[in-house]
This record gives sequence, C-alpha cells and structure tokens, in this order.
Amino acid sequence: MNTELGGKVAIVTGGLHGIGKAAALALAAEGAEVAVFDLAPQESGEVRELRQQSAARGAEMTYRTVDVTRWDEVAPAVRAAGERCGRIDVLVNNAGKGREPTALEDLAEAEWDALLDLNLKAAYFCSRAVIRFMQQQRSGRIVNISSIAGRGMGERAHLAYASAKAGIIGFTRQLASEAGPYGINVNAVAPGAIMSGRIVQRWQERTPDERRRMVDPIPLKRIGTPEDIAGVVVFLCSPAASYVTGATIDVNGGRYYG
Ligand SMILES: NC(=O)c1ccc[n+]([C@@H]2O[C@H](COP(=O)([O-])OP(=O)(O)OC[C@H]3O[C@@H](n4cnc5c(N)ncnc54)[C@H](O)[C@@H]3O)[C@@H](O)[C@H]2O)c1
Repeated sequence: MNTELGGKVAIVTGGLHGIGKAAALALAAEGAEVAVFDLAPQESGEVRELRQQSAARGAEMTYRTVDVTRWDEVAPAVRAAGERCGRIDVLVNNAGKGREPTALEDLAEAEWDALLDLNLKAAYFCSRAVIRFMQQQRSGRIVNISSIAGRGMGERAHLAYASAKAGIIGFTRQLASEAGPYGINVNAVAPGAIMSGRIVQRWQERTPDERRRMVDPIPLKRIGTPEDIAGVVVFLCSPAASYVTGATIDVNGGRYYG
C-alpha cells in the first residue's frame, strides 16, 4: 500500500507508550514528520528511547510535554507544531486511560470528570486546535482512539470510561460531518484488549489458567498488539481510506463485547 505519508506532518497524543507509540513509529516509518505530545519531561529516558527508536527507522520525531486535558497547553503546542512545519496533516487522538470499575453509588464527581476530561474532552481540545490548519489546507485526517468499552457492554469497564469512549464515537461522526466539506476525514478505531497499558499489568498478574480465560472469548485467540492498531491508523491516514469518514473500525480479534 502506498500510504503517501512522506513529508506529511502528524501529531500523536499519548505517543510515549503502547498504542500511541506504535502509531507514532508506524507513521514515521512511512515518512511522516511526527510530533508526540505526552506527559513526561523532555529529558526523560522514555523520550530518549522514543527518539532512538524513530532514528533507527530513519525518522526524526519531535516531542513536547503536553497535558492534553489542558487547553492552555494544547493550544500553544499545536500552534508551535503547525507554524514550525507550515501544516498539520494528521492528528491521532490517542491519549487515554481507563481504571478499575467504581459502582455508580460510589462514583465521585471528580473521578467522573477526570475520566471524561482525558478520554473525551482532550480529543475536542486537540481537534479544535488543529482544525484551522486543516481547513486552510483543505485536507487532513483525524483518527480518534475509542474502545470496545464504548461499543459493547462489559463488567470490567468503568462507567465514566465507557461513557467517554462511546462519546468519542459520536464526536467522530459529528465532526466528520462538519469537517468533510473541507476535505478532512475523521474516523475512530475501537480496540479490543491490546497488550499495552492496563492490559499488560492485568496479564502479568494472571495465572496461566486465568490468561487462557482472557484469550478464550477472542475468536483470533490472542490479545492484540499495539501494532495491530497502528496498522489501521496508518490505513485511515492513507489514500486507500480517502472515502472513509465518520466510521468507527473495530480492531478486536473478533470479540465485540468486552
Ligand atoms: N490497551 C487496551 O487494551 C485498550 C483497549 C481499548 C482502547 N484503548 C485506548 O487506547 C489508547 C492508548 O491506550 P494504551 O493501552 O496504549 O495506554 P498506555 O497507558 O500504554 O499509553 C497511554 C499514553 O497516554 C499518555 N497520557 C495519559 N494522560 C495524558 C495526558 N493527560 N496528556 C498527554 N498524554 C497522556 C500516557 O503517558 C501514555 O504514554 C487510550 O485511549 C485507551 O483508552 C486501549
């Protein structure tokens, strides 16, 4: 597949670990100039490692410490990336995190707000900041990372996380409608269980028998990898997906309820 990503400018949020890192490296490997926004300080080992891994693929990556839940950090960081490169072609709204479920009667407002801020409002902030660049160019791709938790129903998902991830699907569809006339495609990916973030920790704590029970309901009989998601992100940013917008693609090994 010719992705035509050479020379394109991409921002990936939460690109220091897991799915975001795999997406950032995959876009960079296709020739995109990638800016990663994440929480760690510029001098941290994680940032050094990301730079080394991208250099090994012949790509250069820029990194900025940005808390995507804060408009006063997102707006200047996007402006700086856009002004430095003269354009922004791709935004991957990936930063996000769930947590162990809390029953509704114990779910405090602060916990609800924190999960909604990170898993839904941050996508609004970042999209709002990039949209004027994409509108001026009359082209762009926005890919939002939702979750199986926003698609199905499961006892392990947090109520606020599931609400935010379902919200991402509505946000994707509505923004696709608004941005389509400018040549901007907006899509979402809904991963199932992927070996990153909390899933790694859960996997490590399980006995072989419990691990089998985690894998058993997945028709493809394995937990996904961050690269399984990154491949679909690259596809959504490529000409092969030029008539795809407003869609949510399930990437879950065939398990639709988490
Ligand atoms: N791993 C899974 O099984 C799974 C399943 C469905 C959906 N997802 C979604 O995929 C996305 C990536 O998840 P992951 O498993 O790779 O997680 P991860 O924890 O490995 O990586 C998340 C990254 O986001 C960054 N981040 C967190 N808060 C941030 C903030 N306020 N500002 C900037 N960066 C921030 C973290 O530092 C980290 O680098 C999330 O949106 C998650 O909800 C993951």
